[in-house]
Amino acid sequence: MDNRPIGVFDSGLGGITAVRELKKLMPQEDIIYFGDTSRVPYGTRSREIIQKYAIQDINFLKSHDVKMIVAACGTVSANLPAAAVEELDVAFTGVLLPAAQAACAATKTNRIGVIATPATIRSSAYGKAIRNIIHSPVIIGKACPLFVPLIESGYIQRDNQVTRLVAEDYLRPVLAEKVDTLILGCTHYPIIEELIGDIAGEDVHLIDPGREAAKYVQAFLTNEHMLTRRERQGECYYYVSDDAAHFAENAGVFLQDDIADHVEQIDIDRY
Ligand code: DGL
Repeated sequence: MDNRPIGVFDSGLGGITAVRELKKLMPQEDIIYFGDTSRVPYGTRSREIIQKYAIQDINFLKSHDVKMIVAACGTVSANLPAAAVEELDVAFTGVLLPAAQAACAATKTNRIGVIATPATIRSSAYGKAIRNIIHSPVIIGKACPLFVPLIESGYIQRDNQVTRLVAEDYLRPVLAEKVDTLILGCTHYPIIEELIGDIAGEDVHLIDPGREAAKYVQAFLTNEHMLTRRERQGECYYYVSDDAAHFAENAGVFLQDDIADHVEQIDIDRY
């Protein structure tokens, strides 16, 4: 039994898609979330900068004595070297492997689309992970740099015409390749999952990396006997590196919860 919180981080809002799933699966667990909102987006940055930011985010969560850290960020998951992960003295998972495994389990044609940030697509990490699981897949990757700023700006409604136009443009070449499974390879994207689903059509199976990572966390904590035994509802505290009110508003819409009293701004440069 381990009553310490689970730590989750992302560059901004995206990781709340993992938080939502963690809360569904393990409602008694406490969660500490960090969204690096002063430095979002990560996905257009160099590998070195992404690694530096990720280590600071991890150090911040470690200062809260978390029992496990979830990099609820496809960009970090794709760009953090295995050696850096091995050095961590805390249980850790990214979102990439759980999402790749789910995609391989879902596809019937072995034609898989991956939409993600430029840094994730550039890393080819999803392709490598998928090729380790299934034989001769066809993988169609597409960088979608406009999605994160649109989502961080609150352009998330299913009928938002600006986001729809952008999504149609990004998805056209991927769907033209007749993929039957589409990995939403950035944790921000499930926030607009319905809009993406409308364009992709119901025959395309959408993979939510936050959901798959949450399932992995539950299995890991169960196997390691690290679930909390507390009866009460878990608490979730959110920390951000820029304006707390802006985050509370946007995250609150997605989580359908008023989290304003649970969001605090911190200085990530101290970590
Ligand atoms: N949500 C992130 C991801 O999964 C990061 C997006 C960004 O900051 O560019 O890739």
